[in-house]
Amino acid sequence: MPLLPLTQLPAWPAFEQAVLHARPDLNQLRLIEAAGLSLDFSGQRHSNDYQSAAEQLLAQRNFAEQRQVLLSGGIANPTENRAAWHNLLRTPAATAEVIHERERLNAFIRDADLGRRWRHIVHIGIGGSDWGVRLSVGAFGYTKLWRNVRFVANIDGHAIEAGLADLNPHDTLIVVASKSFTTAETLQNGQRALEWLQAAGVKKPFEQLVAITARPDRAAKWGIAQNHIFKLWDWVGGRFSLWSSVGLTTALSVSADVVAGMHSGAAAMDKHFETAPFDSNAPIQMALHGIANRSILGIGSLNIAPYDSRLAYLVPYIQQLEMESLGKSVDVTGNPVPVPTGPVVWGMPGTDAQHTFFQWLHQGSDGAAVDFIMCQQADHRWHNHHQSLIANCLAQREAMLRGKSIDQAYEECISQGHDPEESKWLAKHRTHQGGRPNTLIVLPRLSPYHLGALLALYEHKVFVQGVIWGINPFDQWGVEYGKNLASDIINELNNQPCAKQHDTSTSYWINLLKAN
Ligand code: F6P
Repeated sequence: MPLLPLTQLPAWPAFEQAVLHARPDLNQLRLIEAAGLSLDFSGQRHSNDYQSAAEQLLAQRNFAEQRQVLLSGGIANPTENRAAWHNLLRTPAATAEVIHERERLNAFIRDADLGRRWRHIVHIGIGGSDWGVRLSVGAFGYTKLWRNVRFVANIDGHAIEAGLADLNPHDTLIVVASKSFTTAETLQNGQRALEWLQAAGVKKPFEQLVAITARPDRAAKWGIAQNHIFKLWDWVGGRFSLWSSVGLTTALSVSADVVAGMHSGAAAMDKHFETAPFDSNAPIQMALHGIANRSILGIGSLNIAPYDSRLAYLVPYIQQLEMESLGKSVDVTGNPVPVPTGPVVWGMPGTDAQHTFFQWLHQGSDGAAVDFIMCQQADHRWHNHHQSLIANCLAQREAMLRGKSIDQAYEECISQGHDPEESKWLAKHRTHQGGRPNTLIVLPRLSPYHLGALLALYEHKVFVQGVIWGINPFDQWGVEYGKNLASDIINELNNQPCAKQHDTSTSYWINLLKAN
């Protein structure tokens, strides 16, 4: 399929120049409202030239048609010849089979709740089969839950050991979430959980196991009964599967209403993404600033700074979403993308982050773009805590935006009683270049609706960036390669023949470990 490299699009040079010449305007508020969220883009470079070049860029990438393909279940993932139709999962008007599966799941949840069953839940899954559930349970179950919920992802045996420790096996539901039902971590941890149930004398252990998968055949072969297998479809990417039956653990932990609320917020963001004009379309504007920061200004990373301790898992969630989707350097035709693509994504909730790495963000030589995220209202009763939290978020952002000139720093030192010579020296350490790009995203409260909208915002942003860079954000061949190599090495460690050649160092370690 024909696709021009990004830098050969007629609009690219104008976009590039507009970004290089624009500056955040400290006297201008640039706010976009989307699905109940407020996005303040005042800290990003913007100008009229920028906006018109950006719109031409989108037109030259046939963005509107590609968005339609995505939202209507067309082949948005060409290297796997699949749709990426996660938006369907959150609309009330889904297809009959999606609605049927939703109803089956809801019936299971209702029965469990009515029967006060499953005091303990162990959710076994990794990557997209884990982060979204951890995030939503952490966001809405941060105080005590009726059910005791554990997550086990890592293949490290300590993870499953800790996940099962001290639980009552007779009242524990094991949820095995794996789209492919081949992921080594999940299957091995699932096997350990099964053995744990058996060892405890549970008579019908498979009645305490539930599988969520796009491969019900594999789950059935593993021993799980049909009525305990909930389906997702191959058109749901792993990192988007939160919206599918993978949400079972969320519903059992923090209620089906939370899941439904998240779905409505995400659906509202889908609508906004589909219908809002480009210049007031939040995911589109966010994506364009990301491209400007990464591909033109050369900023290598995006820091996620949620000023809400309930959103700790938002960081790895967005990390997987962005880095697995955009960590690619060839376009859909197989040609190299001529500019740097997806940035490193990292972060930590504020204010902890301030005392960990914000110094680097303020005065380090590289800097990063920052997404500040905060809630206007808290859900606890200590007003002054929330005021301080918000003040910190706004202050850190203001520092990055405005910086501090050498003259200001000098005056500050003088006013603090330092002599002029010392003030000159100290001022050099206290200046702050400012102008570091950032976006502020404000939720009225951390409600399920607003969290759903926030996640869909990032999903669509990633999609738009994929379209502009020309890459497929829905595959992950690099990860698949590593998975295959790992299974070869496991075979070798088990003394099974392997035709694969290794490099000298890998062979050395395999042989050493085999000898021990
Ligand atoms: O990390 C690679 C990956 O394939 C992710 O895309 C996915 O979320 C994760 O592994 C788990 O895959 P599965 O749900 O098939 O077990």
